[in-house]
Amino acid sequence: MIAILGLGYVGLPLGLQFSKNGVSVLGLDVDQSKVDAINAGKSYIHHIDAQWIQDAVDSKTLEASCDFSRVTECDAVVICVPTPLNKNREPDISYIIKTGESIAPHLRAGTLVVLESTTYPGTTDEELRAVLESGSGMTAGKDFHLAFSPEREDPGNPSSRVSIIPKVVGGLTPECLEKAKALYLQAVDQVVPVSSCRAAEATKLLENIFRSVNIALVNELKVVYAAMGIDIWEVIEAAKTKPFGFMPFYPGPGLGGHCIPIDPFYLTWKAREYCQATRFIELAGEINTSMPDWIVHNVFQALNKVGKSVNGSRVLVVGLAYKANVDDMRESPSLVLMDKLAAFGAEVGYYDTYVPIVPTTREHPQWAGVKSVDWNQETVSSFDLCLIATAHANVNYQQLSDWSSLIIDTRNAMKASNCKTDQVWKA
Ligand SMILES: NC(=O)c1ccc[n+]([C@@H]2O[C@H](COP(=O)([O-])OP(=O)(O)OC[C@H]3O[C@@H](n4cnc5c(N)ncnc54)[C@H](O)[C@@H]3O)[C@@H](O)[C@H]2O)c1
Repeated sequence: MIAILGLGYVGLPLGLQFSKNGVSVLGLDVDQSKVDAINAGKSYIHHIDAQWIQDAVDSKTLEASCDFSRVTECDAVVICVPTPLNKNREPDISYIIKTGESIAPHLRAGTLVVLESTTYPGTTDEELRAVLESGSGMTAGKDFHLAFSPEREDPGNPSSRVSIIPKVVGGLTPECLEKAKALYLQAVDQVVPVSSCRAAEATKLLENIFRSVNIALVNELKVVYAAMGIDIWEVIEAAKTKPFGFMPFYPGPGLGGHCIPIDPFYLTWKAREYCQATRFIELAGEINTSMPDWIVHNVFQALNKVGKSVNGSRVLVVGLAYKANVDDMRESPSLVLMDKLAAFGAEVGYYDTYVPIVPTTREHPQWAGVKSVDWNQETVSSFDLCLIATAHANVNYQQLSDWSSLIIDTRNAMKASNCKTDQVWKA
């Protein structure tokens, strides 16, 4: 049996994949409501079908528990807990440390422990290793095995299945690596071995920094081209036809989610220990975090053109989740936009069927409990301006075009709609 610790966006699909392939999975989480949901065959993540969970539970290859002492029943333990930034935007690996502390006393000799949470190089073989060794009285690489393997989950992408995404794996020792490869080959088609846990940790950071920097580049070009009267979306579509040396990235209202806005700063922090600067990462962060201000500036201009001010106008933010077709609103720029518009005196509402009620968040507590507006002509047309922040596929953009007199589109979602000239601003 294997244990998956942390049954969130990463741990749950991974556990389901193992279970589907006949491996017995014990899901462990500190959140009793998730444990209860799984054992009852229910899903708490929009894009994960409850039937998959029910099938896994029925086949007795998946059960969930809050009892971490049951790690002793497992041959392998995979850790998928959060790795956020603290309020000073420094890595917060406390979830990893707490998990390590809670499993260490229950580790058996020969168990494999794999960390999957995105983090800076050295976390596995320094911090996690130290906690596991002191709590278990055993030595990593000798009495138990230790490895790092980053998750490559792409929530909301229907063609992204755990089994077909190659899994990078680094072990503390060659034997640790072999054990980790054998584990993952029970769930995925391809394992990509690297020389160490640090190389595997660094691989994940490269992947996410690559995205952050390239998104910043198109965001910067969007602003420059807008000043020149050129549509960045048209330019990207044309550039995409180049059959080599180009990969499209798309602009937006800012970065969101638990990965791209956060992970690059894990490396920035660690690099300081080695007196290394991370100028690309910092610059990309600066450009991406400035995007909501640019969007708000566009709201000012669009309203101004029709003789209105932001102060006193009703603005509807369409899309609260950070990306299309998911219910995840962690770090979503939509909330930043709502904060800024409300601070300028706008009356702000939002529409998002994936997030019907705003949950409590640390940075935006004032929106907790606010509900999505209803989707009908009377409601939508009562707003002076609609701001598309996330382009969910379940929004009827033709109706939006018919019902709203002024739209700011940060996602090129209105491209197929019959909009009147001056009705839609791309931003
Ligand atoms: N969400 C993604 O698309 C994605 C993609 C790749 C990598 N990652 C990385 O994977 C890691 C997990 O992300 P996520 O999106 O699944 O987070 P999540 O918040 O969805 O899930 C984390 C789970 O861990 C549980 N948890 C917290 N503390 C715990 C503890 N001490 N013991 C056991 N469980 C605990 C939480 O209750 C929650 O269910 C992060 O490091 C993230 O950067 C996420």
